[in-house]
Amino acid sequence: MLNIQNLNAGYGEMPILRAINITIAQGEIVSVVGSNGAGKSTLLKAISGIIKSSGTITYNHESLHALAAHTIVKRGVVHVPEGRKIFPEMTVLENLMMGGYLHQKDRQTNLERVFTLFPKLAERRNQLGGTMSGGEQQMLAIGRGLMGNPKLLLLDEPSMGLSPLFTEVVFGAINTINSSGVTVLLVEQNVYQSLKISHRGYVIETGSIVLTGTGEELLNNKDVKKAFLGM
Ligand SMILES: Nc1ncnc2c1ncn2[C@@H]1O[C@H](COP(=O)(O)OP(=O)(O)OP(=O)(O)O)[C@@H](O)[C@H]1O
Ligand SMILES: [Mg+2]
Repeated sequence: MLNIQNLNAGYGEMPILRAINITIAQGEIVSVVGSNGAGKSTLLKAISGIIKSSGTITYNHESLHALAAHTIVKRGVVHVPEGRKIFPEMTVLENLMMGGYLHQKDRQTNLERVFTLFPKLAERRNQLGGTMSGGEQQMLAIGRGLMGNPKLLLLDEPSMGLSPLFTEVVFGAINTINSSGVTVLLVEQNVYQSLKISHRGYVIETGSIVLTGTGEELLNNKDVKKAFLGM
């Protein structure tokens, strides 16, 4: 579904991503794990066309480099950015509706789907986004992404700053979303949880992929255990 070959990207003169190769098959959950500043968010920004990159990124055999960011969204590549970035002065419902503006005719169905996944959002539909708790805002950010009819969902650190309980809820939701047919690229520092739900994973270190394997292989890898799992 997504094929990234020899991807290089950075900011201005500063190179960040170096010769990245990643493939994602339809139906998979793939995670990219790595520490702060490794280039995880930069990778998602390059895929969704927010920053320029070189190399090839093909999505269903079409080059994403040829497309504008809003066209990439229309193709079903939906990016839920780091730090949630919901609209604080809008209600929960308005935030969700914004996520569905490209898909007016599916909005009601999508809204029901989001409310089933996160009943809390239904309960709080008239509350201002900015007054929701951190965990609730994360649900809202994912819910808003789902309103955009994703085929490939790019999730940037959905568990950041969440309590263990909310983390479980969010990872459970990612599994449910994937079971409904959405392919997921998950970028996380919560290495254990994300590899546990992933079919495959990649470890990124200072802009390069240093290791890849199934979620289980990586969880059992001694370098991963040492670097990320404190074992
Ligand atoms: N807009 C920017 N301009 C200049 N440098 C940037 C910019 N955004 C990120 N960087 C730099 O690029 C590098 C990779 O950043 P990135 O945000 O991709 O890391 P990350 O793996 O997502 O880290 P974290 O886990 O902390 O979110 C960092 O050194 C960061 O300082
Ligand atoms: Mg990041």
